[in-house]
Amino acid sequence: MSSTIIVGVQAGDEGKGKITDILAEYNDLVVRWQGGNNAGHTIVFGGIKYTVHLMPSGVFHGKRSLIANGVVLNPEKIIDEITTMKKAGFNVDLGIDPRTNIIMPWHIWFDGVEEKSRQTKEEGSIGTTGRGIGPCYGDKYSRNGIRFEDLIDENRLEDRVKKVYPEKEFMLKNYYKIEPILSQDEIIKRYTELGRLLKPCLTDVSKEVINALVNDKDVLFEGAQGAWLDVVFGTYPKVTSSNPIAGAIPVDVGVPLWLVANSCVIGITKAYVTRVGSQPMPTCLDRGKWPVNESVSEYPANIIRERGQERGTTTGRPRRVGYLDLVQLKYAVELNGVEELVLTKSDVMAGLPLKVCVAYELDNKRITEMPTDIKKQEVCKPIYKELSPLEECGEFIQNYEALPKNWKEYIEFIEEYVGVPVNFISYGPSREQTIIKSISRSITRL
Ligand code: IMP
Repeated sequence: MSSTIIVGVQAGDEGKGKITDILAEYNDLVVRWQGGNNAGHTIVFGGIKYTVHLMPSGVFHGKRSLIANGVVLNPEKIIDEITTMKKAGFNVDLGIDPRTNIIMPWHIWFDGVEEKSRQTKEEGSIGTTGRGIGPCYGDKYSRNGIRFEDLIDENRLEDRVKKVYPEKEFMLKNYYKIEPILSQDEIIKRYTELGRLLKPCLTDVSKEVINALVNDKDVLFEGAQGAWLDVVFGTYPKVTSSNPIAGAIPVDVGVPLWLVANSCVIGITKAYVTRVGSQPMPTCLDRGKWPVNESVSEYPANIIRERGQERGTTTGRPRRVGYLDLVQLKYAVELNGVEELVLTKSDVMAGLPLKVCVAYELDNKRITEMPTDIKKQEVCKPIYKELSPLEECGEFIQNYEALPKNWKEYIEFIEEYVGVPVNFISYGPSREQTIIKSISRSITRL
């Protein structure tokens, strides 16, 4: 029995797709446990670039791919992805847990109007992806959700929509002063059809994963977003609404602790930081308010953005960029129980000034932990350690020893600060542009 957990140890967009894809090949099951189509994984496979938002990346290897109960599922989007993947010739073997909450049209409407109303308030907007994520999780926990088991049962779906829709309509019309775009009957009709199309995917993910693990199969848990966006441990309230941390897996999938206790947790971090939205980001080089105004960004923000193609896979918005923040990285590593790190996009920093944040200044004191309070996070000033710029490096370096001197110094500095090894170094989009520094538990069987 073996399980590997891939988590983002920054604010999402760390390049999890590439490493997930590499490891998916060597696992029997690939399981997505949280988030929804706010995520976007770009995977280059066979020279072609694919972007998926919901589909676990096991699909690229014809592996059994599971969407667990902790995900919020937009049925139209998953159907689109199934169709695209099938057309591209992939064998789609997808299972969806009956307890998974469904993103309904009103979740998307509320995401839009709530974001707009936040803009006029002091704390400002979150910069959500507008995919209905927060409102859907809100309904899940207030027990007004519609689950996959409702979606695929015509009568139950009608009952649930008739119970929930009038309240949503009332709020939209009377508080937000907008008219719902779809009527109750239109929604029932459209979602009944979506349920019919998705019914064959029904599976008890909890049972399937438990069975796989006790029968000595290899399971890969694929995270979306990252620790700084965690609804509890991130920069609350400017976070997403799920738990992208490894500790969420027992509940969000439905597996007992002991079965996943020995998982190899792999944390993915970029060589710099990006964030989408207006959350605290001490090392940010983009001045001014969100969204990014590239004309007031400090050097070398625009170069990093350009080289790293730092624009949202889901929304296309320019991401805020900044130097690597080791304070937050260390916290995310500890919180997730990360055993080893993957450093991605290190090539982007080549030739540029290289700084890493090693502490913050807050109230004239030097601190090495991120405060829990967003008001304090917002005024933390970065204290940097300046390192020698990374040398331009060749096309395909295959082993760690062949890396130039400053690269090694940089990597070793990170390892020392954070306390775990950087075992994979990715320096370009293709599979070949990955150095495996030392054999990790996740790949001993490769
Ligand atoms: P939501 O998840 O759409 O509610 O958005 C909440 C916050 O999380 C916003 O700042 C989003 O930009 C951010 N966010 C959500 N998903 C991702 C992701 O996959 N990558 C980066 N940021 C994300």
